[in-house]
Formats: sequence, structure tokens, C-alpha cells
Amino acid sequence: MSLRARGFRNLGALSFEPGSHFNVIHGDNGAGKSNLLEAIYYLGALKGFRGGKTDDLIALDASDAFLEAAFESGPAPHKLRIDMSRSQRRRLQLDGKRPRSTNVWYQAIRMVLFHPGDLVLAAGSADKRRAFLDRMLEQMDPVYASTLSSYEKALRSRNRLLKDARTDRRSVRAYDTILSKAGAVVGQARRRLVEDLGPRVERAFTDVFAGDTPLDVRYLPRVEPSEEAIADALERAFEKDCARGFTADGPHGDDLELRLHEVGARHHGSQGQHRTIVLALKTAELDLLTERTGRVPILLLDDVSSELDRSRNRRFFEMLRHVGGQVFLTTTHPEFILLEDDRVDFQVDGGRVTR
Ligand SMILES: Nc1ncnc2c1ncn2[C@@H]1O[C@H](COP(=O)(O)OP(=O)(O)OP(=O)(O)O)[C@@H](O)[C@H]1O
Ligand SMILES: [Mg+2]
Repeated sequence: MSLRARGFRNLGALSFEPGSHFNVIHGDNGAGKSNLLEAIYYLGALKGFRGGKTDDLIALDASDAFLEAAFESGPAPHKLRIDMSRSQRRRLQLDGKRPRSTNVWYQAIRMVLFHPGDLVLAAGSADKRRAFLDRMLEQMDPVYASTLSSYEKALRSRNRLLKDARTDRRSVRAYDTILSKAGAVVGQARRRLVEDLGPRVERAFTDVFAGDTPLDVRYLPRVEPSEEAIADALERAFEKDCARGFTADGPHGDDLELRLHEVGARHHGSQGQHRTIVLALKTAELDLLTERTGRVPILLLDDVSSELDRSRNRRFFEMLRHVGGQVFLTTTHPEFILLEDDRVDFQVDGGRVTR
């Protein structure tokens, strides 16, 4: 892929022609390395990876910004353009036309990202891991995103009614059918995904961590993902839901369980173990997306080497050498990036990118 941009965070007017395999982006703290990666990520995910609204993404001294990219990989090359403005809605163009939905966009261009904030996948609460599974499923299955959003919409409506003491209780029940139908589809898709993903994560973790600590990855549904089971759970918890003012049971309570030595990795893992777990999740994601879609997603690695010891860093790069697609890595220390072949280096300084 190649990228043109203007007015995105601290990046100047940019015309970026990366190499086809490994691209190492170096520069000092605050130079704009992560901003460059975020610009690429935004083209795939339609959002930044550090939260923030459109206004935060537009350069402080500008009123608008654009990102434009061409993706040559695969049988159908795509041209993407995003225009952002402080005063107007964002405009998307896929091959010169407004896409019918964001799902069409997600199918056109796939990316896997690792950035330091992703450590919450191992160390944070279950919603982060659900979002990880959901984003993966969105990239693989255009119907999943719409099913999930109907589930979430019904859940919000039901919760709103539960909070309101004046509601007729029967009206709360009206949402149970859609919640159990859409919820079962969501839960089953997540279960199938984890059956396929889990062993890959465990293997990648062992390959990089190479200790005697096995990682155990499992789907942990709040309620068995079937229509009957969810309907049952809603029925049984109805009085309690009314009392607490929200719906407790359903796939919005699912988790992706990560266990080291039979204990939860979240509260027991070391920093390096957390980082390795997240890297294992991401390499497994890349592997599975490649298999399911027949194309290698773009891999974005923001500051991946810090916190890994020397030998784990080496093993990680050994694994990375087998990745076939375009990879972008940022670092303050290019000598930590143990890749020699097919490598192009870029320097970022005050938002300017040079080869
Ligand atoms: N909307 C914006 N307009 C202008 N500058 C911005 C905007 N958003 C962020 N910045 C600036 O961009 C600079 C570079 O940020 P970035 O995160 O890309 O640095 P980095 O090279 O990744 O540094 P580090 O090595 O510390 O991770 C920061 O100084 C930040 O203040
Ligand atoms: Mg950075």
C-alpha cells in the first residue's frame, strides 16, 4: 500500500511509499511515529487507536485533513480516501464512491494492530477482550457487525426501561426475543472463533515465551450461547434485573479467558508475559484472518520491542520473519528490530517522514 495525507495530527503533507515487506519507522519520542501508524490504521478501522474524536486527529493548526491510500495486494486493488473536517461530517470514498456501509469498507481492507495500549487485552477487563473478538469477526463476516449492533441496540433499550421505575414491566419483555436470537448468533460466532483462534494463541505464546508456563485460552460465555438458554436466563433474572436496573445476563458479559499455570493471567501475569500474550493474540489474529480471507492483512506494530527481554525479542522476530504481507514497525531503537531481509527504514522527525 501507499499513503498520502495532509493535516493528520503532527504529520506534514505526506507522501509515503513503503516497501512491500518490512518497514521500520524510527525517530525520537514525540516525533510522529505512532501518528504515522495511526494514519494507516485509521484507513482500515475508521478510528484512531488512542481514542479521541476527529478533532483530536486533525492537526492543531488545520481545519481539515485527508488520508488517501492505494492497496495493491490481492486481485482487486482498492483506492480509499477519507476527508475529515472540524465543521462537517467525515467523508469516505472507496474506489471513488461512497461505500454503502462501513461493513463494505471493513471487508476491503484488513489490518492487525499491536500498540502499547493493547496490554489491557491481557491486564484489563473483559470488555476489551470482547471488543478484540468482535473486531476480528467484523473483518471476517459482514453480517456479524449488524447482528451485534441489533443486539446492543435492544440491550440499551431494555436497560433504559429497567432504569425507569414508571415502566410497564411487560414492555421490558418485548426485547427478550431479539436479545436471545441475536445474542445466540453473537455467542456462537465468538465460540467458533475462539475454537479456531485459541490453539494458535497458545502456540504463539509458547513459541515466543519458551518457558514452562503454558497459556490456556478459552471462551467463557456468561450464558450458554443458545436462544433457549439466553431466553431462560433473561426470564429467570427478570426480578433481579428490575431491581438493579440493568440486564445482567447475555453475551455482553462474555469473556475470553486467559490462564497461565491454571490462574488468571490478568492478575498474575508479569508485564512481559502480558505483552507476550497480547502479541500471541495478534499473531494468531493475523494467521486466522489470512486463512479465512485468503489475503494477508497489513500488520502494524507500534513500539513492540520494549519490555521484551533479549531472547524473547529474538524469538518474536523469528516468528515475524514468516509473515508474508506488509509490516510496519515503529521504534526509538532500530537496532532492536531484528530483521535484515526485505527491510526499508524510514526516519520521522517533527512529523516529517524521510527514507
Ligand atoms: N492533532 C494534533 N495536531 C498536532 N500535533 C499533534 C496532534 N495530535 C498529537 N500531536 C503531537 O504529535 C506528536 C507525536 O506523537 P506520536 O505519538 O506520533 O510520537 P511517537 O514518535 O510515536 O513518540 P514515542 O516514541 O514517544 O511513542 C506529539 O508531540 C503530539 O503532541
Ligand atoms: Mg509512539
